[in-house]
Amino acid sequence: MSNVLRIAVVDPKDASRDALKTLLLGLEAVWLEAECSRYEFFADVVAQTTPDVAIIALDSNVDKSLELVSTLLKSSPSCAILVTSSSTDGNLILRAMRSGAKEFLPQPLKAEDLSTALQRIARQRSTSSGGPVRGCSILAITGATGGVGTTSVAVNLACALAAHEENSVVLLDLDLCLGDADVFLDTIPEYTLFDVAENINRLDLTLLKRSLTKHETGLYLLPRPVQLEDARKISVDELSRVLGLLKTSFTHVIIDTSKSFNDLDIFALTEAEHILLITQLDLPCLRNVVRLMISFKEVNKFDDKVKIIVNRAGYETGQISLKKAQETIGRELFWQIPNDYRVMVEVRNNGVPLIRQAPRAAITQSFNQLAAALGGNPQGQAAETAPKKAGWLNLWPARA
Ligand SMILES: Nc1ncnc2c1ncn2[C@@H]1O[C@H](COP(=O)(O)OP(=O)(O)O)[C@@H](O)[C@H]1O
Ligand SMILES: [Mg+2]
Repeated sequence: MSNVLRIAVVDPKDASRDALKTLLLGLEAVWLEAECSRYEFFADVVAQTTPDVAIIALDSNVDKSLELVSTLLKSSPSCAILVTSSSTDGNLILRAMRSGAKEFLPQPLKAEDLSTALQRIARQRSTSSGGPVRGCSILAITGATGGVGTTSVAVNLACALAAHEENSVVLLDLDLCLGDADVFLDTIPEYTLFDVAENINRLDLTLLKRSLTKHETGLYLLPRPVQLEDARKISVDELSRVLGLLKTSFTHVIIDTSKSFNDLDIFALTEAEHILLITQLDLPCLRNVVRLMISFKEVNKFDDKVKIIVNRAGYETGQISLKKAQETIGRELFWQIPNDYRVMVEVRNNGVPLIRQAPRAAITQSFNQLAAALGGNPQGQAAETAPKKAGWLNLWPARA
């Protein structure tokens, strides 16, 4: 489901175990699932947490640790074993390899060596599983002004993606003060981003999933904090670790960002594979799109991955034309979502997403097609609820 490697570590020496943890935290696509300071407990830890990789430090007791390598080879055959030692004695390396270790890394560990070894293991795993393992796609949704439809797009796109059973989708509400994704989904979540961030060091994948609210569409939600003051307590480092954990267990993370473009928003936009910038075809919005794109290009350097989405297309006759908007912004408009005031009011008031409230509506079809255009349709089929025949609204997408 994901290309993140889940790792368990055993090293009785605190100093080298901490150094290894620090290195692992700095690596992409790696999640530290468990750590242990006793060789005798480690086989149980691995059996319970089923990591992809076990890293065993040999120096505290060579015989005991190599015996552990042999035990793990039998008890957890799908777990790749990597060993480390400050000795580079050829005999020791040979014994480790014969016991079943896949990689030997000299201490003190270097980030580059560790990363290369883990990449090799990841490649072997994807080859033996019959093809590349699916990674996680982060989609950040942001808007050119308040009320432009950012949350509407985040929620309904997330539900359209979750409609494919091959996808596992989580919606993260990063509008920390005024976010309302929970209202759109009519849920009263038990835990919020603040709880998860606060406990990130103690959370594993099972606990994380229990902290999320599952909607009947299959979509998971991690909402904004309840208390306003808690919003200010979440650090970029904590958000980075929450995202790291979400990436290990979901195929799609959808982030509804705030419109303050604070450090957390910019971090989310930086991490995203695609940034959907929602605008409407009026002057204040388009002016902000131009301003934002300048900043995204010159300061943040992520303008390449921005996709401009026109929401409420056809809303007013006085709207700026698509051609003029495209000329003003100086780039392609990726998608248009039609205006449908009646349906969107129902969706909002009932707290029921489009895919349930109005499965056959043209606006719902537009979201299904947008999900497919963003690669969220693994087998190329339309979502179950999409009308079989192409309707007149197929004219809407700016790019078919
Ligand atoms: N395509 C649309 N057609 C009609 N109304 C829409 C559409 N998209 C959003 N809305 C309405 O606009 C309002 C603001 O949307 P919302 O998603 O909360 O914006 P934001 O998150 O950017 O503040 C909501 O009442 C929503 O129902
Ligand atoms: Mg919103």
